[in-house]
Amino acid sequence: MDDIDPLSRQLSAAVALWRSRNWPVGDVLLVGGSGLSVDLGEPIWGPTDLADVLPFASDAIVGHALSIEAMRAPSGGHVLFQRGRLHAYQGYSPAQVVFTVRLARLLGAHTLVVTNAAGGIYENARPGDLALICDHINFTGLNPLRGALPPEWGPRFPDLSCAYDADLRRRAREVAAAQGLELREGVYAGLLGPSYETPAEVEALRRLGGDLVGMSTVLEVIAARHMGMRCLGLSLVTNPAAGSPTGTLDHDDVLEVSLAVSDAVQKFLAALLDEAVVPGS
Ligand code: HPA
Repeated sequence: MDDIDPLSRQLSAAVALWRSRNWPVGDVLLVGGSGLSVDLGEPIWGPTDLADVLPFASDAIVGHALSIEAMRAPSGGHVLFQRGRLHAYQGYSPAQVVFTVRLARLLGAHTLVVTNAAGGIYENARPGDLALICDHINFTGLNPLRGALPPEWGPRFPDLSCAYDADLRRRAREVAAAQGLELREGVYAGLLGPSYETPAEVEALRRLGGDLVGMSTVLEVIAARHMGMRCLGLSLVTNPAAGSPTGTLDHDDVLEVSLAVSDAVQKFLAALLDEAVVPGS
């Protein structure tokens, strides 16, 4: 019962491998959801297939390439950019889902920026809306901190009262305002998926305080906060939850909206990351 999870042990091997190859470390790990691409500045390493970094087999799903690369922001800070992620609905364990978050932290990253595609629960949600996540509700029934973990990683009962960093959110609002970009803010309800929600489920989530709904992010943020990282979450609303303009919802619609607004999202993230990674910030 008290044995440290084997995957947690494998992290030390992944850290050693990374260092032995002299791959760059980042100040920030950016995890990009469906179709997100960011051209942040000078590429300094990669892209490398995530399979070269993970000690277990990984599969991309449609619209989610799986790779990692490093970039130097104009401010001089380094960003590790993970394109695509592993989801619990694919069958990965919570420890597998958060493996790269822990790896980045052990390599020195102080900030996690997560983006995702989400359904909008709030009134008049429109495909293409961008929303800052101010808090989350973990409805997955999963937790990456279950079981024994190395005590030096963080406390047994970590506080999640400020899971999404208030200062980073303030900076995000400033960057958005400077770019004339409308930025909403709301509570992200994280579900296991992979089925989309029924209208009754969306109504239940709304009554429970959810503004956005998706199938990622919450496990990554829990693991990051446990290890003391600052977190920023950004949702790209691809559809009103449990309803799309065509009446039904499918993954292609989600990808199409991601692509349509990708330039604006990219410009916003580039400016924000440049600020967030200022060394010592
Ligand atoms: N529900 C869950 N996940 C999602 C949705 C949704 O409506 N849209 C994009 N990801």
